[in-house]
This record gives sequence, C-alpha cells and structure tokens, in this order.
Amino acid sequence: MSAKIKYILIALVVFSNPAKASDDWGVTGHRTIGAIAQQYLDPEVANEVTELLDGASLAFVSTYADEIRSDDQYDRFVPWHYVNFPFGEDYHSHPKSSKGDIIMAIEKCSEIIKDRSKSKDERAFYLKLLVHFVGDLHQPLHVGIQEDRGGNRFYVKWFGESTNLHSVWDTKLIEGYNMSYSELVTNQDRLTAEEVEQIQLSSVSDWMDESRALCEDIYAHTEPEEKLSYAYSYRYLHTVRGRLQKGGLRLAALLNDLL
Ligand code: ADE
Ligand code: ZN
Ligand code: ZN
Repeated sequence: MSAKIKYILIALVVFSNPAKASDDWGVTGHRTIGAIAQQYLDPEVANEVTELLDGASLAFVSTYADEIRSDDQYDRFVPWHYVNFPFGEDYHSHPKSSKGDIIMAIEKCSEIIKDRSKSKDERAFYLKLLVHFVGDLHQPLHVGIQEDRGGNRFYVKWFGESTNLHSVWDTKLIEGYNMSYSELVTNQDRLTAEEVEQIQLSSVSDWMDESRALCEDIYAHTEPEEKLSYAYSYRYLHTVRGRLQKGGLRLAALLNDLL
C-alpha cells in the first residue's frame, strides 16, 4: 500500500464522526426491552404491530435506528437519540435544541404511528424508531450533559480496557452479565400486577426525570480515568436490569395506548 493511501485511511478513521460509532443500549439491551414489551402488548395491538412490521418482532426492529445511523440520508435523526441539559437545570426551562431531542422524537413518532391516514411504510418506520427511543430514554446517560457528549468523552478504564462512561452504560455493564437478551427476559425481576401498573402509569417526562436522577448519581460516583470493575458492576447491575424492564413495560403501555 502506498504511503499516501495509508495516510488517507488513517485520516478517515481518526476524523470520522464519533457520533456515528455509538451503539446505544447495545444490541442486547435494546432487544431485551423490545422482547419484554412484546409480552405486555394487548392481543389486538400485537396483531397490528406484527402487521406493520411484516412479521418482525419488537426485539428484532429495536436496533433499526442505530443501523441507519451510518447512512447520511438519516443524519437528521441522530439528535433524536438523547437529550442534554446542565445538571441542576430543568428540561422544560432549558432552551431546546433546534435539531430536536429524544422527548420531541417520542412525541413525533407517536403522532405518526397513531395516525391511520399515514401510509403503512411511514407508520412502520416511525414505529421502529419509537421502539428504539423509548429504550434509549431509559439509559441514564441519554439524559446527559453536552460538555462530555453524554459521557462519550468521560474516559474510564473497564476491567483494564480504555473506554468511556457512555459505553460502560450502553454495553459494558450488560455484556459483563454474559446473558443473551432472551435470558435477560426470562430472568426479569418478578413484579406484582400493582407494581407493573405503577411503572406503566408514568409519563415520558417521568422516564426522563428518572434517567436524569440516575445520571446525577452516576457522575457523583464515577471519577474521570477511574478504573472500573467488579465493584462498579455490583453497584449498578440491578439498576441496569431495572431500566431494561421498565423500558419494556412502558413501551408496551405506550403502544397499547397509541394503537
Ligand atoms: N451525543 C451527544 N450527547 C449524547 C448523549 N447524551 N447520548 C448519546 N449520544 C450523545
Ligand atoms: Zn448510547
Ligand atoms: Zn439510540
């Protein structure tokens, strides 16, 4: 390979847009949320979802919004995966991003999905996005701060490997659990009917507030360049499993309402 081509290849890797490398909850996290939601759909709603998705499951389509992220054609959806505002401030009083955010994204997707005058293709597209964004909103660092891009520039070590706090929360904690998404679904915490109802009764704004409170807790308990390993997993694994379960229950409630 000529030196010039090598230089171009290295420059491409170094200067490529880091926002596009993100994987959010990761495949396992998103599929867990989708599969839990599928269990709680009303039967008629489940039929309509299957019809819209040409037979695919919510777990299967849950990663679609990340798959299209590397395609320039879908650039306008990138800011829809998260919201950032300063600690100590309130989402509703902080100026909104003109490019949209995850709260506005969930509203927009919801409007289109429930509008039966829209085409099947359009409703299916926004349904796939909604499944993903409800998941992302339950990842605490997706209700983050702009300075470090929701922890993407908060560098830490994870069992000796250089990574960042966002990635620890998207994937590393879940991967450390070493379970497939279906095993995670089978091993959900057992909840009473009242607990399920209580979790589902909340609003999109409540889901954001919970993630923000967890995000503040995470920043209070993590130092830049910290070496994270077993103690960190032990502290937060139950939190992560709870966020996946809540995300699934609420996605089902939202779809039951929209359809
Ligand atoms: N990019 C910038 N901020 C982000 C966040 N909070 N989550 C994911 N990606 C981001
Ligand atoms: Zn993420
Ligand atoms: Zn995402």
